[in-house]
Amino acid sequence: MNKLLVHGGTRLRGEIWASGSKNSSLPILAAVLLCDGTVTISNLPVLEDVITFKELLAALGVKVIAYDGGNLEVDPRCANSLTAPYELVRKMRASILVLGPMLTRYGQANVSFPGGCAIGSRPVDLHLRGMEAMGAKIEISDGYIRATCSNRLIGTRIALSSVSVGATENLMMAAVLADGTTILENAAREPEILDLANCLNRWGARISGAGTNRIIIEGVDKILGGGFEVMSDRIETGTYLAAAVATRGKMKISRTDPTILDAVLKKLAETGARIKFGNDWIEIDAENRRPRSVNVHTAPYPGFPTDMQAQLTAVNSIAEGIGIVEETIFENRLMQVQELNRMGANIAIAGNSAVVTGVDRLKGARVMASDLRASASLVIAGLVADGETLVEEIYHIDRGYEGIEEKLCSLGAKIKRVNQ
Ligand code: UD1
Repeated sequence: MNKLLVHGGTRLRGEIWASGSKNSSLPILAAVLLCDGTVTISNLPVLEDVITFKELLAALGVKVIAYDGGNLEVDPRCANSLTAPYELVRKMRASILVLGPMLTRYGQANVSFPGGCAIGSRPVDLHLRGMEAMGAKIEISDGYIRATCSNRLIGTRIALSSVSVGATENLMMAAVLADGTTILENAAREPEILDLANCLNRWGARISGAGTNRIIIEGVDKILGGGFEVMSDRIETGTYLAAAVATRGKMKISRTDPTILDAVLKKLAETGARIKFGNDWIEIDAENRRPRSVNVHTAPYPGFPTDMQAQLTAVNSIAEGIGIVEETIFENRLMQVQELNRMGANIAIAGNSAVVTGVDRLKGARVMASDLRASASLVIAGLVADGETLVEEIYHIDRGYEGIEEKLCSLGAKIKRVNQ
């Protein structure tokens, strides 16, 4: 099993570029199923989740014409299966995103019910209730969601009872080919939703209001597909910036978008780091400065992202003072805490908050986390710690960080993949 061996104590210095966004790539790959022509997606990150999604599309009969890692050309017109099987869905919860596109395009979809995962129960009731409101019949049997509609889905007004990125994406895609207009109220506002809407519009859909909490989708008879370049990954950018602060380094990240990282950049500036940015780059200077602790409260966009919470916990663990990190989105997303404490951090859990008392030094250890962002926080801790840290179960990291050891090594880190 692959592990990452980190030799701590090096300040990160240098320049890297941001990869394409994982959380934008996956819904865009699902949207392929809506199209009546070939599709070319570029700037895809080379990640396990993207590869799994490509396999899922292939399992549904989508023809992969060309794939070189960053670019994928497919022909969805040959799709011939309406079942997203358990073996693929269990690897990646985002597979649920094929439900809306398949249902609206073919009038039927069978998707293995995605279970809970390490960070919480993660229900999909909002996805299902929204599709029912559009006229779908939903049954759950043998661990599968079986959705059908007699003719087309019918556009309607759907007020989501809570903010969900996945439900907003799934319902937006379902509405693209529905009969009439759908209005999604209390929609999530994440930049990845805007990217998906831009992509769908490029391919022939009629969506307005994405990026606000009211999205209006006028159904069309067909969308033809075409090309689209995926946006940059704001969480990857944020993770490297957090690593720069933790290691008291200096870093420039290009091909990124500072305007969608506002909440994260504000918090990193509160640690005492100096931040400059232009249209598509961010520079952070935390050299020779111990970070100050910050309080973090996760919230839907434009609030502080839950996907950056673990990384800020790691920064706080070696910062000056006490920082309180409150997780409000998922019920079980402080799993990095136990492992950080094994490295000498001083973190107490109080309900859904981590109370982090900064320590002067962390000590390398053998650690393991059971989700993607928690694993990234352990790499950050390992970069700062004295001695060696062995991060196990790094398939989590490979789900979300393209070439993490290459990028970190280019910044001067001592990190390598080992098989032991
Ligand atoms: C997406 C992101 C994930 C990020 C999360 C929150 C992708 C592939 N994943 O996940 O990285 O951490 O947004 O920003 O883009 N909920 C319900 N019922 C539902 C759906 C969600 O109760 O039907 C709840 C969830 O349990 C959770 C909250 O809503 O408490 C937010 O979940 P959601 O925004 O749906 O997250 P994902 O789309 O799964």
